[in-house]
Amino acid sequence: MIAVDGPVAAGKGTLARELAARTGLRHLDSGMIYRAVAALVLEAGDDDGDEQACSRMAERLVAADLERPGLRDQEIGSMASRIAAHRDVRRALVEFQRRFGRTPPGAVIDGRDIGTVVFPDADVKFFVTAHVRARATRRHRELALRGETTDFGDVLQELSERDRRDRERAWAPMRQADDAIVIDTTTLDAAAVAEKALDIVRQHLGAASVLS
Ligand code: DC
Repeated sequence: MIAVDGPVAAGKGTLARELAARTGLRHLDSGMIYRAVAALVLEAGDDDGDEQACSRMAERLVAADLERPGLRDQEIGSMASRIAAHRDVRRALVEFQRRFGRTPPGAVIDGRDIGTVVFPDADVKFFVTAHVRARATRRHRELALRGETTDFGDVLQELSERDRRDRERAWAPMRQADDAIVIDTTTLDAAAVAEKALDIVRQHLGAASVLS
């Protein structure tokens, strides 16, 4: 089990996908489950401040919901961060993630609380981060590629607000696990980040854990 945590657009998803491909483990982007619940709440016309309505959706979540279109939209990301503050939503979604992670051959899961709450006994934990402006630049470019025209200042503000909400919430806030290895991606490209992380995985799990 490999945990990859960190803030928005730090490169944790890209790293987690690459680690899964190189180790043969399954990959789960846990942000997508919070996004899927947000989309279901929005579609049902429920209020994202209504904990009961949100947790009912979280309990009913199935894998197919993660394939819904539009989950990567900025609006869904902000709403996901709001519903993720509800304790009962997190409780239901932690169960979903544990079921996924315990299914052989195991998994690489990226998110905010994987190494601290979901799998505190993960074999290897990474905390991937980068300077907030570098992350906003990446996010802005990503949105432009998807045809969402947004002002850079708005992206920077939305990202900073989301960071703050994810860090300051009472239940399972985003934080670095004491035994996590920090990778700062501000000046590294995806290939360099992956090589660095794969070296660490080899040290922890043995050379045979990484496919050539
Ligand atoms: O990683 P992302 O941007 O797709 O995540 C969307 C939101 O979901 C994020 O702002 C907070 C929430 N989230 C969470 O609380 N815990 C996780 N493990 C993953 C995501």
